[in-house]
Amino acid sequence: MKNEKVTVNTLANKKQSQEKITMLTAYDYPMAKLIDQAGIDIILVGDSLGMVVLGHENTLQVTLDDMIHHTKAVNRGSENALVVTDLPFMSYKTGDLNKTVESVGRLVKEAGAEAVKLEGGSELIAEIEAIIKTGIPVMGHLGLTPQSVNQFGGFKVQAKEEKAAKKLIEDAKALEKAGVFAIVLECIPAQLAKEVSEILEVPTIGIGAGQSCDGQVLVSQDLLGISSDFTPKFARQYENLAKKITVALKDFKADVKTGDFPNQDESF
Ligand code: KIV
Repeated sequence: MKNEKVTVNTLANKKQSQEKITMLTAYDYPMAKLIDQAGIDIILVGDSLGMVVLGHENTLQVTLDDMIHHTKAVNRGSENALVVTDLPFMSYKTGDLNKTVESVGRLVKEAGAEAVKLEGGSELIAEIEAIIKTGIPVMGHLGLTPQSVNQFGGFKVQAKEEKAAKKLIEDAKALEKAGVFAIVLECIPAQLAKEVSEILEVPTIGIGAGQSCDGQVLVSQDLLGISSDFTPKFARQYENLAKKITVALKDFKADVKTGDFPNQDESF
C-alpha cells in the first residue's frame, strides 16, 4: 500500500483515533529515505545533530547554517513524512522576535522544513505566535530540553517534584493555547506524561516519557546502535550497526592486504 503524505492534520486525526505516532531523527539523504520508506510519520532534523553527527559534547554549538544544510539533505530524501527541524540554540529566545521569524523563514524557504520545533514553555508564547502567524506549524518540547543542559546541571530526568510537574502541565497548556500542533515530552516521569497526554488535545510525542504518550521518538543512531558513545536508558537498540560496520571495515582492510580485493569480477 502506498504511504500518504503526513501533515499536521494526519497527526491530529491519529490522536483522535488513538493511533500511535512515530517520529525518528535524520540528518542526511539516505537515512531520510529509509525512514520515509518505512512509513514513519515524522522525520525530525534534530539539533542532536551536534552530538550524533558532528561530534560535539552537546547541542549548543549547532548553528542555523548547520540545520539548513542537513534539512536540505533530509528534504531530498523524504516524500511522505512530515519534515520538522529544530531551531538551534540562539536562533530564538534572544528577545528579538524578528530574528526568530527570520531563522524559521530560512529553514522553510532555503531548506524545505515543513515545521519547526522549539524548546521551552510559557516564556516562548510570543515567539510561537509570531511564527504561526507566518503560516509555519510549530512543535513544542518540554521536560529535558537539551539546549538548557547547563541550567539543569546535566542530562537528567525532569519534573520529578510536584512543583516542577505542575509547571510542566501549565507550560503544556500554554503551548497548546498558543497553537502548537504537537509537543515532545523528554525524560519526565511516565505518570506525568500520561496526565499531560490526557489533558491536551494536541498529540504528545515521548522520549523517555513512558508508554502513554500519543507517539514516540528516538534518535535513529541510538535505535540502530551506530554511535559507540553513550546510549541513554530509554533508547531501545534494535540493531548493533557499529559492530557490523566494524566487521565490514576490517574485512575490507584484510582483503586489500591479501590482494583478494579487487578480484577479476570487480575489475575492467
Ligand atoms: O534533537 C533531537 O534529536 C530531539 C529529540 C531527542 C526529540 O530533540
